Amino acid sequence: MFDTMTVTKAAGALIGSLLFLLLMSWAASGIFHVGTAGHGGEGEEIVQAYTIPVEDAGADAEEAVEEGPDFATVMASADAAAGEKVFGKCKACHKLDGNDGVGPHLNGVVGRTVASVEGFNYSDPMKEHGGDWTPEALEEFLTSPKTVVKGTKMAFAGLPKVEDRANLIAYLEGQQ
Ligand code: HEC
Repeated sequence: MFDTMTVTKAAGALIGSLLFLLLMSWAASGIFHVGTAGHGGEGEEIVQAYTIPVEDAGADAEEAVEEGPDFATVMASADAAAGEKVFGKCKACHKLDGNDGVGPHLNGVVGRTVASVEGFNYSDPMKEHGGDWTPEALEEFLTSPKTVVKGTKMAFAGLPKVEDRANLIAYLEGQQ
């Protein structure tokens, strides 16, 4: 009797702890599984979030390249009078009378060395950009200032239309 009771208790304890371990491992795998699924889901989202802009950037870059030959054609028949209107977007920061405002004066900018207005406090990225403001360099910069001169303090999104850029550059060429 006593032996049987001991065996029964021992067996009960053993089964009980096995059941407990089983439940624990089930609960743990449940938590683990949920954790993995959540993580995996986020991972996919992150991958997609990065993939889409990269594809967009690629498409933009291709467009910009495609616009390259276009610019010369558009520039050849650019309209300085229309460019004066486009310059309205720059007026808040740029003057054409030799005085600097938020940005350096832009009279004589076509052909001028980049970041060469004396006394104007250019950002380091602009100083390091180098080269001259040829019509082509201006065209590239004005398409997307912050992409072309990373870290520039010129707070301007850019002129998406090649006609606007060409017309504006034609206008600036006449402002010496
Ligand atoms: C919100 C103010 C702001 C607007 C709007 C703006 N600019 Fe600028 N621009 C600046 C500043 C500030 C700088 C100096 C950037 C630097 O040092 O990084 C600058 C620099 C430049 C430069 C380089 C000049 C040099 O001496 O090297 C050019 C070219 C230029 N801007 C053209 C334009 C044109 C064209 C427009 C209009 C389509 C325009 N910007 C609109 C503020 C502005």
